[in-house]
Amino acid sequence: MNLKGKRILVGVTGSIAAYKTAILTRLLIKSGAEVQLVATIAALDFITPLTLATLSKRPVLSVFFEKSSGQWHNHVELGLWADLFIVAPLSANTLAKFAQGGCDNLLTATYLSCRCPVMLAPAMDLDMYQHPSVRANLEKVASFGNVILDAETGELASGLSGQGRMMEPEHILEQVIEFFNSKKDFQGKKVMITMGPTQEALDPVRFLSNHSSGKMGYALAKTFEAQGASVSLVTGPVALKLDESRFQVHRVTTAAEMFEVAKSLHAQMDVVVFAAAVADFRPQNVADQKIKKAGEELTLRLIPNVDIALELGEIKSANQIHVGFALETEQEEGNAKTKMVRKNFDLVVLNSATEVGVGFKHDTNQVRIFHKGGNEVQSALLSKDAIAEIILEEVKKVAS
Ligand code: PMT
Repeated sequence: MNLKGKRILVGVTGSIAAYKTAILTRLLIKSGAEVQLVATIAALDFITPLTLATLSKRPVLSVFFEKSSGQWHNHVELGLWADLFIVAPLSANTLAKFAQGGCDNLLTATYLSCRCPVMLAPAMDLDMYQHPSVRANLEKVASFGNVILDAETGELASGLSGQGRMMEPEHILEQVIEFFNSKKDFQGKKVMITMGPTQEALDPVRFLSNHSSGKMGYALAKTFEAQGASVSLVTGPVALKLDESRFQVHRVTTAAEMFEVAKSLHAQMDVVVFAAAVADFRPQNVADQKIKKAGEELTLRLIPNVDIALELGEIKSANQIHVGFALETEQEEGNAKTKMVRKNFDLVVLNSATEVGVGFKHDTNQVRIFHKGGNEVQSALLSKDAIAEIILEEVKKVAS
């Protein structure tokens, strides 16, 4: 993965390991990141601003106010700019300031202002690294949610050997890439997904239903959960094994039941995906006993079911996102867009009920996604997991 577009603050403090900051900066820049160095005055005894500025292609910041240029460096803006703040090396002195909330230079002020995750790479001699004061400070800053990039073991500047060497820049880069890979875009968000068919009883033995297997809805559930969302499933009867440790699973049978549950959960949701194949009609009369074959024809009178997406679309708040599906056999685009408007979808996912490998039961699907604002995304025939990823990306665009 490259770090293109990622904005990384690199703090450097007074340690002999500061020379490695130049290597780390070069690695981050080569990976596509934008890097802004923030140095303590003590750090500049170990590495020149010119070296770091050349590598990062940005001036190195170390004071609030540059007398020479009259420039003011705003720690708050720096803290807001960054996607990630790495302090490497972290000296025992700056560690102590971080642990106590000290704020006597640009670096510590930026640390206190930043909203992004922080990675700390301590570097010091082995006895210092094991000192109870340092251990207590490391525990304390770790308890704030900072990621500690533990010092590595080897020969130290003092000639002693032991743990205290700053983590190698290549290893820090691996940690940074892993961090951005695992970054979750729906952390803390609540997502509800209706999925599967509904079953509308004729008598105690028979029912009207459809071929929905729930695979599309469950693929979406897994995709959103993998991005940190809390996912509630409202599912008709499906053969799929649903992981109740990852999802809040609400099992229903009829459209009416699906509506009751979906409506009760709706207000707390950030995103709702209507992937269920809800029966539009149900028998007006449900026989108490199994309907006997009497030889002549049997006429069924069907009455409309509640339209769940329509009803919830009418109470959708401005900061909620509704994603609908359209399962069509003809005039597909027109039908899908009509449903999008009528049901107040932000996105509608059109899939065919007749094309090979598309729609019901298959492990694959092929979709066209229409945004309320007019954009359209067309997918190839892909696994439903891959389709779910595409839908999630489109939801992110609506959310941004
Ligand atoms: O479950 P799979 O086997 O993986 O199959 C996936 C799927 C084909 C079921 C899925 O991709 C899909 O298309 N789901 C929607 C099927 C459907 O009912 O589409 P529709 O065009 O009839 O309904 C339009 C939208 O309104 C849908 O979001 C539907 O969930 C919703 N709806 C429809 C009727 C109703 N009474 N209540 C609703 O909420």
